[in-house]
Amino acid sequence: MAKLAHAQWSSRMGFVLAAAGSAVGLGNIWRFSYMTGESGGAAFVLVYLACVALVGLPILVAEWMIGRRGQKNPINTMADLAKQNGKSPAWALIGASGVLAAFLILSFYSVIGGWSLNYTLGSVIGTFNGQDADSIADLFGGMLASPSTLLLWHSAFMLLVVGIVARGVTKGLESAARLMMPALIVLMLILVGYGVASGYFGETLAFMFRPDWSALTGGVVLAAMGQAFFTLSLGMGIMMAYGSYLGEDVNLISTARTVIILDTAIALLAGLAIFPIVFANGLGAGEGPGLIFVTLPLAFGNMAGGTILGLMFFLLLTFAALTSAISLLEPAVEMLEERTSLSRVMATLVSGIAVWLLGVAALLSFNVWSDVLLFGLNIFDFLDTFTSKVLLPLTGLGAIVFVAWCFKRESVEAELGLSATGISVWNIIARYVAPAGVVIVFVTGLI
Ligand code: PFF
Ligand code: NA
Repeated sequence: MAKLAHAQWSSRMGFVLAAAGSAVGLGNIWRFSYMTGESGGAAFVLVYLACVALVGLPILVAEWMIGRRGQKNPINTMADLAKQNGKSPAWALIGASGVLAAFLILSFYSVIGGWSLNYTLGSVIGTFNGQDADSIADLFGGMLASPSTLLLWHSAFMLLVVGIVARGVTKGLESAARLMMPALIVLMLILVGYGVASGYFGETLAFMFRPDWSALTGGVVLAAMGQAFFTLSLGMGIMMAYGSYLGEDVNLISTARTVIILDTAIALLAGLAIFPIVFANGLGAGEGPGLIFVTLPLAFGNMAGGTILGLMFFLLLTFAALTSAISLLEPAVEMLEERTSLSRVMATLVSGIAVWLLGVAALLSFNVWSDVLLFGLNIFDFLDTFTSKVLLPLTGLGAIVFVAWCFKRESVEAELGLSATGISVWNIIARYVAPAGVVIVFVTGLI
């Protein structure tokens, strides 16, 4: 018995690590902090937290349910399940839009992963030591202005991703996450401690948690929901694919809660670490995508032990970005492998090169192509906005509507293992609360 219990525990543990490896990444540290800063703070944070709980949790559970029932890649899984439940084959489009979203996201994700790699090297060679806010900002501006620098690091990051996926060694990385995740949390706590010592922690708490509701526009609400989807890796078919590896004995709701608490805690810690540095140095919270790259090096460059802490931080950030990026490339690779005669290595190369090319367009939007606009946004912002604010919410909505309205009651009971009351609560949330939340936010955000 003891042996069996341990085997179950370790399989659940392995799954949590894999899911957390995909969820925890640049979204928690880079994207959460810059979006919070840009959107004015607490109102954004609180709406984001509400979205995570009311929309993110049920959709995460729904994606895993679909994956565990279907046992295939997202497109085939959706097609099979639609057929089994007597529904239109058009539901497979949800799988397809997920694959597309993952592909688009990886292109710009890799550019930021490249920044993280570059800053890892910068920490090793002591670039940030003793620098003031202006020179740190100049270093960042210089990187953005140089297409060749951005190209070099974006390429290096994509090479790492492609190399890992082609060799199919993602499992090894997941077990490394067992060490890396706690290390990342400890480092963040040290940074938060530095923030407390800076004397600007009260201001940070107010900024992040005391809302000025007048700042709440439809756009901010949509941005907050987009962040919830992005950070939890939802609406991309990725969690669906992971669900197909889930043992029947794993409790979906409690596992989802664990992954979500971990992901949310890391994002909030990042905010608590970064904003004291912003306020202490009179920097702008609405700096944009460069926020962590103009604040953290400043702190590391001027604190005791900062060189080693900075190196560790950017290494861990790069590692977290890599595990997420791998999960972003997998869907396209699997689809090519299944639908064409390409080998795994070739499928990885083809998708990797396509993503890399789109990433080149994204990085040029920071310099020579800054005037190239799509719907009023440069290419980088367009890719980010279109995926997080449109594709992910709509795909996630499709997943929860499918589970809530098309799954047979027996399947829901078997998947969730809830009491009769539990199932009723689940039905209310999955049928009405979460879908209505997505639709309302989406519509008000667009107006
Ligand atoms: N959730 C990841 C992050 O927060 O960095 C990003 C991501 C990974 C999004 C995988 C989507 C995905 F499928
Ligand atoms: Na995340």
